[in-house]
Amino acid sequence: MSNSKGLKLVDRDDDGVDRAFREDVLKGLSQQQKAVPARWLYDDAGSQLFEDITQIPEYYPTRAETEILTDRGAEFAEAIGSGRAVVEFGSGSSVKTPLLLQCIDPAAYVPLDISGDFLRASAAELSAKFPGLPVFPVEADFMRRVELPGDVEDMPKLGFFPGSTIGNMVPSTAVDLLRTMRQTLGAGSQLLIGMDLIKDPDILEAAYDDAAGVTAEFNLNLVRRINRELEGNIPVEQLRHVARWDDDYARVEMHLEAQDSVTFAVAGRDYEMKAGETIHTENSHKFDRRSSNTLLLAGGWTPVMRWTDSKGRFSLILAEASIARSAP
Ligand code: TRP
Repeated sequence: MSNSKGLKLVDRDDDGVDRAFREDVLKGLSQQQKAVPARWLYDDAGSQLFEDITQIPEYYPTRAETEILTDRGAEFAEAIGSGRAVVEFGSGSSVKTPLLLQCIDPAAYVPLDISGDFLRASAAELSAKFPGLPVFPVEADFMRRVELPGDVEDMPKLGFFPGSTIGNMVPSTAVDLLRTMRQTLGAGSQLLIGMDLIKDPDILEAAYDDAAGVTAEFNLNLVRRINRELEGNIPVEQLRHVARWDDDYARVEMHLEAQDSVTFAVAGRDYEMKAGETIHTENSHKFDRRSSNTLLLAGGWTPVMRWTDSKGRFSLILAEASIARSAP
């Protein structure tokens, strides 16, 4: 895959193996606490399973955020105004975007995504829904500073980062990303960002371990992908999906727990897990008003408005690019 500048976004060896995937997996499985970066959950099967997760009864964030976007249009219009270029970070197959665009009268839409296929599909869908709106898709890794198309250079920007994806990063990475977004969007920009709220751990754990087992499938799909793409033989049926709330870190952790002691190989290297040992695959940090404000301020964004759904489960926060000024 190459982007518009001809830069390779996926680097494969002669056998077609994604080098970054192999490196991350081999390094992660060698650690004391085994861990694989969550981005590898999203191959084609994983992306489809995640779409399914957004529909399951226990997974409330998508419905809660959609409710806010549906019901508070007039308030968004007032706070954001018209004429902004909306830059969406990781547009995926978002269904939330039209809800935002229809209430704020934007000047352009710039979806950023690392997957060119997703990007072109969602850009085409959006153009069909908003015939007068200029759409400039950019295939890019939004964790790095992105050069926006010249067409939107002089427009004020609104970054859009829904889904509480910021919560999937540890705080230091989240701050790096917020600062990078600030550089990508520039002075005078706004950011509308979704952050899931701290609540009863039973509700949180159920959202990440649904009765139908869709989230378990999503998590286990990572191991299937490792076995398929990296010549692994991890015994999938010996691993159990676990979601647990960590109150100190205010996050739901997702793990794959060995039910028995197991040995396996990946890409020619041997590994073992004792019974009860886990591979850590994902975090989903949750926030309250103060912790979300602190995170945004640390990332160079000043919160100006916040909305929550009627059941108080999820928040959408509007922030402005902070102005560097001296302070104690
Ligand atoms: N941003 C989503 C969240 O943290 C991602 C997500 C939902 C997820 N369910 C998951 C990630 C299960 C890994 C496993 O809510």
